[in-house]
Amino acid sequence: MDVITTPADVRRIASEARRQDRTVALVPTMGFFHAGHESLMRWARAHADMVICSLFVNPTQFGPTEDLASYPRDPDRDIRVASEAGVDVLFCPDATSMYAPDHGTWIEVPELAAPLCGATRPTHFRGVCTVVAKLFHLTSPHVAVFGEKDWQQLAIIRRMVRDLDFNVEIVGRPIVREPDGLAMSSRNKYLTPQERQAAPQLHAGLLHLQHLVDAGERDAMVLARALRSWYEQHLGLGTKDYIALVHPETLAPASRLEEPTLAAVAWRLGKARLIDNLLLQPHP
Ligand code: PAF
Repeated sequence: MDVITTPADVRRIASEARRQDRTVALVPTMGFFHAGHESLMRWARAHADMVICSLFVNPTQFGPTEDLASYPRDPDRDIRVASEAGVDVLFCPDATSMYAPDHGTWIEVPELAAPLCGATRPTHFRGVCTVVAKLFHLTSPHVAVFGEKDWQQLAIIRRMVRDLDFNVEIVGRPIVREPDGLAMSSRNKYLTPQERQAAPQLHAGLLHLQHLVDAGERDAMVLARALRSWYEQHLGLGTKDYIALVHPETLAPASRLEEPTLAAVAWRLGKARLIDNLLLQPHP
């Protein structure tokens, strides 16, 4: 595996691959790899001739009071994990090579970025869209792979690709969970032992909702209330950021569950802000 740091190098390697008619898959990440990242890399390995993984803790998607400085990092381990997962090129730029000091061009998808995480992270998704667009330009991938844990991010990137005619297929891959159900996340590292013990209840609450749907409940408001009281009873720690039932593509609030509907939650547990989601199926 090649580890490279400059945008010029990744552009050269990717265009050379394209010239040779090799398919290129991009796996954009912020590093501190866990099994969720590995599953994206392995999917890419199985579906493309060249796998490029970017590892860049993108400053523009962090708000001024967020955890940019303390975001977990372990570059040596990341290099090992990426190499074992079959990545060909690990692209690890620094912020100065990705952003000019007077960088001032942003991509925004305001309608999809406003609800859910966007309500408390108002500049997050423009940072995500802008860096992902830059990575697409640098690597011209045939396919780019993202995790479904960040469902809103995935919906926004799909919309950006559609609206701006990026020539790339976007693939979403299922959430990878710890054996007790907690969705894998680099930020799980922030959890104290007590918070870590409580955290799987986030997923358990979502499964409880699917049981209510299976039993015939279709009213989104009733379901959201049920999830809230489940968390009050079983999680007992932290504070709600949001609980929402929304259309999986438009992210518009759902009222009745006639079609698959996304239940999404963000919860603050100590230093961590955890997100999780489940696509509720009214007709399994
Ligand atoms: O999901 C992430 O890790 C980041 O938001 C991404 C897509 C790599 C952009 O920085």
